[in-house]
Amino acid sequence: MDILRGIKGAPDWLPPEAGAFDAVERAFLDTAALGGYERVRTPVFEPTEVFARGVGASTDVVQKEMYTFEDKGGRSITLRPEGTAGVLRAALEAGVPRSGTLPVKWSYAGEFFRYERPQAGRQRQFTQVGVEALGATDPVLDAEVVLLGWEALKRAGVGEMTLRINTLGDRVDRPAYHERLNAYLDDFEGDLPPDVAERRHLNPMRAFDAKAPGMAEIMAGAPLLADHVNDEAKAFHEEVCGLLEAEGLVLTHDDRLVRGLDYYTRTTFEYQAAGLGAQNAVGGGGRYDGLAEDLGWPEPFPGVGWALGVDRTLLALGEAAAPPPRAEVFVVAADPTLAPQAFGLVARLRRAGVAADQAFAGRRMKAQLKLADRSGARLALVLGADELARGVVTVKDLASGSQREVADAEVLAAVTG
Ligand code: HAM
Repeated sequence: MDILRGIKGAPDWLPPEAGAFDAVERAFLDTAALGGYERVRTPVFEPTEVFARGVGASTDVVQKEMYTFEDKGGRSITLRPEGTAGVLRAALEAGVPRSGTLPVKWSYAGEFFRYERPQAGRQRQFTQVGVEALGATDPVLDAEVVLLGWEALKRAGVGEMTLRINTLGDRVDRPAYHERLNAYLDDFEGDLPPDVAERRHLNPMRAFDAKAPGMAEIMAGAPLLADHVNDEAKAFHEEVCGLLEAEGLVLTHDDRLVRGLDYYTRTTFEYQAAGLGAQNAVGGGGRYDGLAEDLGWPEPFPGVGWALGVDRTLLALGEAAAPPPRAEVFVVAADPTLAPQAFGLVARLRRAGVAADQAFAGRRMKAQLKLADRSGARLALVLGADELARGVVTVKDLASGSQREVADAEVLAAVTG
């Protein structure tokens, strides 16, 4: 019988990479916490409508990439392809817009699912950390969000990065622009790939995302939304950019950056890491002032946020990704009869908050020391019958090989000092 295999595009993260993965996720979440973003947890599945209406019918995500199924009660359920629609759904359901203390600032981390063609940096299950600031329209908030994402990626260790930024204006700017863009696309009707030809009647802006051969050339001459953005949104954008530049960020203004989700208004941005090839966006986000109404809320309720891809960030880090060591201290028993003492010392260390480990299955001392090295531990504590009788333990520095004897009562101090 063949060994069973997992699902293509749903990676297994094993040690030590899984440790590095956690470290990246923690760096993102810690940065969000520094900004006052509180954790939320929402379900990995939602009624399909949440994404169909939230993410938008014209997007690849909704048209081709959702894991949608009917549950035993006949409801259409979808595994979340992104976090914003679900988090906002939860906020609206909890009555957050009427809570009076706005904006609320939330963060989340978890697994997301898109039926994409798997390749380096593009998976069917991946992990995002995200933040959403709900209930305020203020350029300072957009600047805070954009800067926080940048800082989070830096904190995780990402080196060279580009920040692409654009404004998509407000929904009121769209009808006139869509009409103009569609009129432009009419001239290329015969050359448009079928999905663009079809979708442009839902949202012609998706044509900017189309990767089919020849589309880049067609779109090079397309009218730009920037020329249709209302004055207030334009001034808002200038303020956001000014705040970011004052913090030393170098902005790459990209007036073709529409992003792959339909809900964006005003600020949109992407962080791209050097050396990742085609899948170089390690994170992205923007403002979504119309999304609450798409989800059924009776009046406008604005929001802005980002999501950072943990898997892709790890790819960008490459060799620099650093899993924490498995143990700080490794306890070695010079002979098998000392196993109970070794067990007791490991327990004592762990209780004191020291990551400690030991070997099992009666290995010889040499083999135990080899395992100590492999564990990444800084120190080995060697227990010998003679030493125990004298009330001492040998502390060996695994990097330098130097060793000294320490009184049993001083072991914790020697290890933590
Ligand atoms: P997104 O740009 O679709 O935005 O995804 C954010 C990040 O998730 C990407 O930059 C990438 O690093 C990672 N990612 C997306 N798809 C995959 C995949 N198939 N494999 C590996 N990594 C992937 C959003 O999801 C929005 N909800 C962001 C947002 C929050 N906008 C406002 N608030």
